[in-house]
Amino acid sequence: MDSLLKTRIATPGRMLAIGLVAVLSFSAEAGSRPPGYAVASAHPLATDAGIEILQQGGNAFDAAVAVSAALGVVEPYSSGIGGGGFWLLHRQRDRFETMVDGRETAPQAASREMYQDAQGHAIADLSQNGPIAGGIPGTPAALDHIASTYGKLGLARDLAPAIRLAREGFPLDARFAKFIVMESKRFSPAAQALLLPGGKPLTEGAVLIQPDLAETLQRLADHGRDGFYTGATAQQLVNGVRAGGGIWTLQDLAGYKALERKPIVIHFQNYRIVTVPPPSAGGVGIAEMLDQLTALHWTGANGVHSQQQVIEAMRRAYRDRAAYLGDPDYVEIPLKRLLSPAYGREMAATIQPDHATPSADLPPPGQPKRPAKEGVDTTHYSIIDSDGNRVAATVTVNLVFASGFLAPGTGVFINDEMDDFAASTTDSNAFGLIGSSANAIAPGKRPLSTMTPTFVEGPKGVLVIGTPGGSRILTMVLLGMLDFFRGADVQTIVAAPRYHMQYLPDQVQFEKGAFDADAQAALTRMGYKLDALSSPYGNMQAVLWRPAQNTLDAAADPRAVGTARVVLKKP
Ligand code: GLY
Repeated sequence: MDSLLKTRIATPGRMLAIGLVAVLSFSAEAGSRPPGYAVASAHPLATDAGIEILQQGGNAFDAAVAVSAALGVVEPYSSGIGGGGFWLLHRQRDRFETMVDGRETAPQAASREMYQDAQGHAIADLSQNGPIAGGIPGTPAALDHIASTYGKLGLARDLAPAIRLAREGFPLDARFAKFIVMESKRFSPAAQALLLPGGKPLTEGAVLIQPDLAETLQRLADHGRDGFYTGATAQQLVNGVRAGGGIWTLQDLAGYKALERKPIVIHFQNYRIVTVPPPSAGGVGIAEMLDQLTALHWTGANGVHSQQQVIEAMRRAYRDRAAYLGDPDYVEIPLKRLLSPAYGREMAATIQPDHATPSADLPPPGQPKRPAKEGVDTTHYSIIDSDGNRVAATVTVNLVFASGFLAPGTGVFINDEMDDFAASTTDSNAFGLIGSSANAIAPGKRPLSTMTPTFVEGPKGVLVIGTPGGSRILTMVLLGMLDFFRGADVQTIVAAPRYHMQYLPDQVQFEKGAFDADAQAALTRMGYKLDALSSPYGNMQAVLWRPAQNTLDAAADPRAVGTARVVLKKP
């Protein structure tokens, strides 16, 4: 695009330059357009890749492919083509909306008990470490599908920035270097050779070149999905996975399909919320929580009374996550009931003002054996283009550096998404989440996710929002949305201190600043067990278009290293 007025770059929490924007009044109806385009992602080089593609005339969907692929190169600890994700798309010309489901699938040789010991308890090491933990990747198929169905430039052009980053390299930041040290004990020999050459971890500033990954991405660019799921790449992946103790076959890879699913649409106050259906638990959870808040006459007023309502709504939504949710192609989910306002009212009627409801009073039973992890894995990005097309995408390889296994010759970290299944009904997964038979392992099935890329549209504009953070994703997106309803700007939304309750364990985790001393005392008196976290969590990326003011804004979470860029057109 050559009619640029000004580029704004928002580093975490700060705008480096601010462009002047003409104030026009219009709504975000079909045909209305933002004053420019914006990308917010968890890494500056991935944000730049998205902007580069938009500058070449690509649309938000092309940029989404570019950002996903680039994140997989520069943040392999969070996402990559060895993983999966959900891409929520909005096409402005006809307001068409869809979710591209690139979630991993269980290999055909997988079984319900494959991660259990003789007593039927889950063996975390098996579902989290090494290629036995890997589901069949969905990201390559999803990127091919998005580029060919919705993009303008084609897959090869969309992948070019990522291939360049893999081939030419990029300097590691302190965060990347820290994760290498943190996870090095889980690394396979090929991962060690890449990230600990000569046995020494790469340090901040070292340039990481990934020639194998460049070659794998190039095959995808040249041949589309077949360049990954068949031929040389597929053979290398299967050879590597099987030699490492995994169970993938060539048929598993060839048979993988990205799917489109109808998003969940929720109405709350004057807002329309578009979010993800199962196999994400996100949309159902957001709907249940908002329906309960409606029933409780939640006003948006700050303070402990409002926070208590939100905590109890969270508790009940996570109870249902454990009880009912799984892959909709495999299990019957009572969606109509769970999404009905009447059900929200029913649940809200069990909430006592100023008293905690013990989670043990809400079925099903089951105690997590492990605490939730911090959730620095997974990644999210948000995009709006100058036609008003939107993408909210949350993508993942599950835990930090996935299963720790790099398939030799491919540059691809194999995900450990199988841990998102309920390996047993008595044990929790890495995020402290329990599950039922709805989320039991079966060949070809997709594991239940919490990833919640979301659009919110209403009187205060159009918000594209999402974050990584394991089981806490859902409550982070809810809190961001509630701040948006209150009129917060996008920088405030991504930076606000967070709190979280997930039914079990029966405790409220919170970041510094989420509750003041009086609120902590009041919540304790009400019966809540508070867990003050020593480190922050999440990495929210958001874009906000206010059609009535003709403004476009974006923000990256100040907790990490991401950047948001807004490029404004000449008026
Ligand atoms: N792997 C984390 C999630 O999908 O929720």
